[in-house]
Amino acid sequence: MKAPASPPRVLHAAAEVFPLVKTGGLADVVGALPKALNAAGLHTRLVLPGLPAIVDALLHQKTLFTFGPLFGAARISVRLGRLPFSHVETYVVDAPYLYRRAGSPYQSPEGHEWPDNLQRFALLGYVAAHLAAGEIDPGWTPDVLHAHDWHAAMACAYMTAHPATAAASVFTVHNLAYQGLFPHDDFRLLGLPAGFMHAQGLEFHHQVSFMKAGLKYARRVTTVSPTYAREIATSEFGFGLDGVIRGRGRDVSGILNGVDCQVWNPRTDTALATRYDADDLAGKRACKRALQVELGLEVHDDTPLFGVVSRLTSQKGLDLVLAALPALLREGAQLALQGSGDAALEAAFVAAARQHPQQVAVRIGYDEALAHRLIAGADAVLVPSRFEPCGLTQLYALRYGTLPVVRRVGGLADTVVDAGPGVWPADEATGFAFDAATPAALEGALRRVLALYRQGEAWERVMRRAMAQDFSWDDAARQYATLYREVVAAGR
Ligand code: ADP
Ligand code: GLC
Repeated sequence: MKAPASPPRVLHAAAEVFPLVKTGGLADVVGALPKALNAAGLHTRLVLPGLPAIVDALLHQKTLFTFGPLFGAARISVRLGRLPFSHVETYVVDAPYLYRRAGSPYQSPEGHEWPDNLQRFALLGYVAAHLAAGEIDPGWTPDVLHAHDWHAAMACAYMTAHPATAAASVFTVHNLAYQGLFPHDDFRLLGLPAGFMHAQGLEFHHQVSFMKAGLKYARRVTTVSPTYAREIATSEFGFGLDGVIRGRGRDVSGILNGVDCQVWNPRTDTALATRYDADDLAGKRACKRALQVELGLEVHDDTPLFGVVSRLTSQKGLDLVLAALPALLREGAQLALQGSGDAALEAAFVAAARQHPQQVAVRIGYDEALAHRLIAGADAVLVPSRFEPCGLTQLYALRYGTLPVVRRVGGLADTVVDAGPGVWPADEATGFAFDAATPAALEGALRRVLALYRQGEAWERVMRRAMAQDFSWDDAARQYATLYREVVAAGR
């Protein structure tokens, strides 16, 4: 079959989108990628669950289709509207019984997984598949359905079950650690033929795996960096699915995420005390001072200030930062952290801040504007992840001239060039990387950071190089466009 001459129509399905609903980098990607694809000439739309912040914000909504009862919801309507800010055309699945709740998309305010997540995210996949089949909005039938993470993965299974679907499917793994696993017997709630519940389908160790719906049934599987694409084919990073990944062979590839330069740009960022760019770094020094004041740290230009903006989970390796903290404080450095997650990590960082109020500041929770001020005001950001599919904070840091200190895994390995061990930083250096997930390895990297920091001029050279890196979405948009054309040309 020949590829159509007109640019492909692509429907993205996902559970969160910046700035309306965000628990991590997935939202940033879903907020930016459709916009970048449209700018590259593709026709891109989104389908999202009707979480309150989405239903309440979507502009110019019109109802296209109403149905039910299904998945426990008496009445479901699919509406088409536009996202505020980016104006990307977006379908919302309005099912108040399943989605209109306080809390995160995945958990109650008390931090428990919603007990009906199977129904909630099966519905998202079901609607996405029926949009792909042209049954909900016959005026706009996509050529490609692009599902993100396990939350949207069931779209790929429902499309396979639906004989009338001409669209091809692409599935992107943003994080293999979260798989959407449910009890075996709940398979019957999905309304799929029994043939889908076997080892070559959704079955995973006597459970239903939504992640496997994407990995098995999508025409192509991508992940968010080339290194992570290789890593998930190994038992160390595969979370039990490395065999499935290996089984897909060359259907799996890595496309590095980008930075939304309308959102993350130190020259225009309204969250900052002072805006700046590589030609005028005085603004960055002002941002550092303002951050020290805001967080109650001792105000000092020459004190190295390390920043962390992160979910507090074992993935992010922040226990290594806790272990290295005494050494860092002995060197006179400061740490500013914003994050939320694991209760023990939250408590440990809060205790460190209480013990060293001049040197350590901790803000539990998430505030987007503070994230920007912290990345702008810090000298370096710490991202010592155990695994990292792509990582966005190190990319934001590079743009803001804040040198990333990363573990050499996944997208971190693909985006940060280490300064090297010597007095003079390597010519291509943009930050610091270390290998072992141990406090000693992190401390070794931190010693190199401090040594370079003390040679002001060499540090500034690396800063300027970091700021000159181009991590805009254009490149990724081009790669996705090529992939879409390939899957369309290959047929379903
Ligand atoms: P991940 O998606 O694994 O958390 P990324 O580095 O890709 O890691 O993305 C992090 C994004 O999420 C950044 O925009 C960061 O500011 C934001 N973020 C960090 N911690 C939180 C949090 N606790 N809640 C919501 N967003 C967060
Ligand atoms: C996931 C990953 C992170 C990635 C983000 C966006 O949450 O943990 O590394 O940057 O998705 O793709």
